[in-house]
Amino acid sequence: MTVIVTGGAGFIGANFIYYLLNAHPDWRVVCLDKLTYAGNLSTLRGAMDRPDFRFVRLDICDRAGVYALFREEKPEIVVNFAAETHVDRSIEDPGIFLQTNVVGAGVLMDACRDLGVERFHQVSTDEVYGDLPLDRPELFFTEETPLRTSSPYSSSKAGADLLAMAYWRTYGLPVTISRCSNNYGPWQFPEKLIPLMIANCLHDKPLPVYGKGENVRDWLYVEDHCRAIDLILQKGTAGEVYNVGGHNEMRNIDIVKLICAELGKPESLITFVTDRKGHDKRYAIDPAKIHAELGWLPETKFADGLHATIRWYLEHRGWWEEIVSGEYRNYYEKMYAHR
Ligand SMILES: NC(=O)c1ccc[n+]([C@@H]2O[C@H](COP(=O)([O-])OP(=O)(O)OC[C@H]3O[C@@H](n4cnc5c(N)ncnc54)[C@H](O)[C@@H]3O)[C@@H](O)[C@H]2O)c1
Repeated sequence: MTVIVTGGAGFIGANFIYYLLNAHPDWRVVCLDKLTYAGNLSTLRGAMDRPDFRFVRLDICDRAGVYALFREEKPEIVVNFAAETHVDRSIEDPGIFLQTNVVGAGVLMDACRDLGVERFHQVSTDEVYGDLPLDRPELFFTEETPLRTSSPYSSSKAGADLLAMAYWRTYGLPVTISRCSNNYGPWQFPEKLIPLMIANCLHDKPLPVYGKGENVRDWLYVEDHCRAIDLILQKGTAGEVYNVGGHNEMRNIDIVKLICAELGKPESLITFVTDRKGHDKRYAIDPAKIHAELGWLPETKFADGLHATIRWYLEHRGWWEEIVSGEYRNYYEKMYAHR
């Protein structure tokens, strides 16, 4: 079995590659990644020398390159993690999100269709459902919830989902889609909430929290997400969408306070900054379908996962300090200096 994993030098893709290499020692894993600011070869150092792993630097929008790789590798499965993923960046510059997240996904699906694969899996997000009000805790996103996006990022992800469903319906391409809630864990780029707060705490820098920090996200440890995708690949039904979430809703401010407590830093580091435009209030996944049909349940409790994540960032300081490049520093200044 050969699996092409796109975006595997990023956070979840890299965790998924390590998960696959461990769970399926007889599978060959090929990582296709453009290595944008969010992709880091150092993340894949532990896989690079393995004979059952290959890394190829490639843009998923490069049609000729993608076709050539697919012809050479003849994958049975393609899992698409490659994407521009940061909502704030999508507000600053939507164009690259449309290009990679929609056009690039389309190129991959064309290659899958023309060359024949057993499964194309699109890694999507709960953000395609928009948000839920804070005062209706009984509401959850199901697979039937209408798509109602808020940001250019979520709109581009919804675009890819719609295209995938059209390729299933029109061409019979065996597609599955997973829509997962917020992930946390090792190898996450320090622009996202949890690693950003850990990194700033460790540098005794202010902890910028949007608005009053009341926005609620449903947090899932990345390994639980990887296991869900692996189950969908093996037991999921083509043409189906699966929501993935851990029933673990937390307010941003409470997460930041937990990180301060665990690292022994004062909450006075917290600074409230101007809220993100169109900031979604609450995400909450109903994972009943993947539980009932595929037997998936999250295994990592939030307290344990957060503790493990903080420990990981403490033990891998070299990794995240190295990747916080000049480009990222300029971006950080632009985003937070005047809020
Ligand atoms: N992080 C989350 O909480 C979360 C939750 C649900 C779904 N998702 C989805 O999971 C996927 C992975 O998210 P992540 O947080 O690991 O992202 P990430 O930003 O950490 O990594 C994205 C990877 O994609 C690569 N990439 C970007 N553009 C590319 C292109 N044109 N061609 C090839 N490679 C390209 C980057 O180099 C990087 O390695 C995304 O599709 C995202 O929408 C993420």
